[in-house]
Amino acid sequence: MNMLTNHRILITGAARGLGEAFAYAALQAGGRVVLTDILDERGAALAIELNAKFEGRAKYLHMDVSDSASVNSAMSEATLWLSGLDGLVNNAAITNSGGKAMEAINEDVWDKVMAVNVKGTWLTTVAAKPHLIRASEEHGLGRIVNVASDTALWGAPHLMAYVASKGAIVAMTHAMARELGEHGVTVNAIAPGLTLGESTQYIPAARHDHYKNGRAIKREQTADDITAAVLFLLSKESGYITGQLLPVNGGFVMH
Ligand SMILES: NC(=O)c1ccc[n+]([C@@H]2O[C@H](COP(=O)([O-])OP(=O)(O)OC[C@H]3O[C@@H](n4cnc5c(N)ncnc54)[C@H](O)[C@@H]3O)[C@@H](O)[C@H]2O)c1
Repeated sequence: MNMLTNHRILITGAARGLGEAFAYAALQAGGRVVLTDILDERGAALAIELNAKFEGRAKYLHMDVSDSASVNSAMSEATLWLSGLDGLVNNAAITNSGGKAMEAINEDVWDKVMAVNVKGTWLTTVAAKPHLIRASEEHGLGRIVNVASDTALWGAPHLMAYVASKGAIVAMTHAMARELGEHGVTVNAIAPGLTLGESTQYIPAARHDHYKNGRAIKREQTADDITAAVLFLLSKESGYITGQLLPVNGGFVMH
């Protein structure tokens, strides 16, 4: 699959988990990828591994999405290395308040979740905007994929700050699509369901079973189930799709 040949992509929160899987898939599809995160040792080691496999088409950079100085400096370095930017995947996020009733979440945790998940998505998009507009004007690209969550669609309980932040990302996807559409830049979101991985291994087995039983496709979801949706939304072929939310969850939530 060469859907992203020579496309220049930046992915946030890419040192592990879904972000790592998206980076791998984008490289496999022919892209050049800047992986960013705050897990620097892990991100740098991953980039070395990926470069051995994908002819030096990957680079790791530190980017704390909640900090504008960090975002702007990493975006400058990334766009210099890539000579521009065709696509941005806003994937970095934290949960922090998982398993707690709403009254048990403290304000610092609430603010941190909003700073990473919501403010982070805004800051990276602002920093990427001029580069994506140029990509649109020069060769019909300029793509943003925001990673939401299906928890925001069905109202997962005991996850209030996270669910609120992912609902905000859906709303921001609509507003960003309208604001950037006049420049030809598309903005879409995916809403994954509960996916097996490091970030979800602490979730009790009963909860995983609950999800599995509620899906139309009755098996666990893995990162590999989600990557094709991201590649398509980053591709040239998806250029007339914008402002949409694509749930990728085996049919747990349908809309
Ligand atoms: N795993 C799931 O079941 C699931 C389901 C729905 C949606 N999602 C979403 O998918 C995305 C990836 O989730 P994951 O399961 O791979 O989680 P993860 O925790 O494995 O990965 C998130 C990455 O973001 C990074 N990060 C955290 N704070 C950051 C910051 N301030 N700046 C930059 N990077 C930061 C982390 O270091 C980590 O590498 C998230 O947006 C998450 O909300 C995941």
